[in-house]
Amino acid sequence: MDLLNKTAIVTGASSGIGIAFSEKLIQKGTKVYGLARRLHKLQEVKEKLGDLFIPVEMDITKAADIESWVKSEFNDENSPDILINNAGLGSFGNVDELSIQDWDTMMNTNLNGVFYITKAVVPLMKRNPNHCHIINISSVAGLLGNPQISAYNATKFGLRGFSEALFKELRYDKIKVSTMFPGSIATHFFGDNKEESTHSNMMQPGDVANTLIHLLETPDNLLINEITLRPLNPKNPDN
Ligand SMILES: NC(=O)c1ccc[n+]([C@@H]2O[C@H](COP(=O)([O-])OP(=O)(O)OC[C@H]3O[C@@H](n4cnc5c(N)ncnc54)[C@H](OP(=O)(O)O)[C@@H]3O)[C@@H](O)[C@H]2O)c1
Repeated sequence: MDLLNKTAIVTGASSGIGIAFSEKLIQKGTKVYGLARRLHKLQEVKEKLGDLFIPVEMDITKAADIESWVKSEFNDENSPDILINNAGLGSFGNVDELSIQDWDTMMNTNLNGVFYITKAVVPLMKRNPNHCHIINISSVAGLLGNPQISAYNATKFGLRGFSEALFKELRYDKIKVSTMFPGSIATHFFGDNKEESTHSNMMQPGDVANTLIHLLETPDNLLINEITLRPLNPKNPDN
């Protein structure tokens, strides 16, 4: 896909790799609708990235809000070519200590939210004369289960299944579906779990975003449906 003058929706654009994805897309001339709950953070991103970045205050767990926004914003003349399902979060702990609320929040954000926005956007993409591309951000936790991250594992494994089914379902509609499985990236993702879950040589958001651009710029009849990214050396060689 040639990214010049294309239109993208990026969820989770107020932080971390969502900002990096938006920045690289805008550098290529793509208009980006950046979705997140914290409007003030999105406004800061707009100040940095300029008018091609359109902040949209949106909680992706609210199906009705997504449906009405997609219906009011888009039509066959202004249709999204790209959907980056990036918004996501993780709460960690032993299964017997994990709250039902934390389980539900992860399911609602990492899985249900992806379904709500994908379901709303796909009909527009099916009618779009351009090739379109949906990229879902899973994690290496979508490939490997590990202690204390069972709920997050369940959402990211689930996203892999959803993505694989969609890639086979939508390929004849000229819609590519890819899934990225990154290892640890230096973002705000880990919050209070920093001590346990992070290390000193994590991947940089801009480098992960360059890979996303590569997936999008592949020739129309070439699909990279899955890609795993890891820090080569998870320990800082300078330490
Ligand atoms: N960092 C890593 O090591 C790593 C590794 C593998 C995969 N990932 C995945 O990468 C994605 C982005 O994570 P990140 O590292 O960039 O973390 P981050 O800095 O914490 O960003 C998470 C983004 O998700 C948004 N978000 C959360 N809940 C939302 C909701 N209900 N509605 C709309 N937006 C919501 C947040 O915005 P608001 O709070 O403003 O709503 C924020 O913009 C996630 O799916 C994560 O699972 C991260």
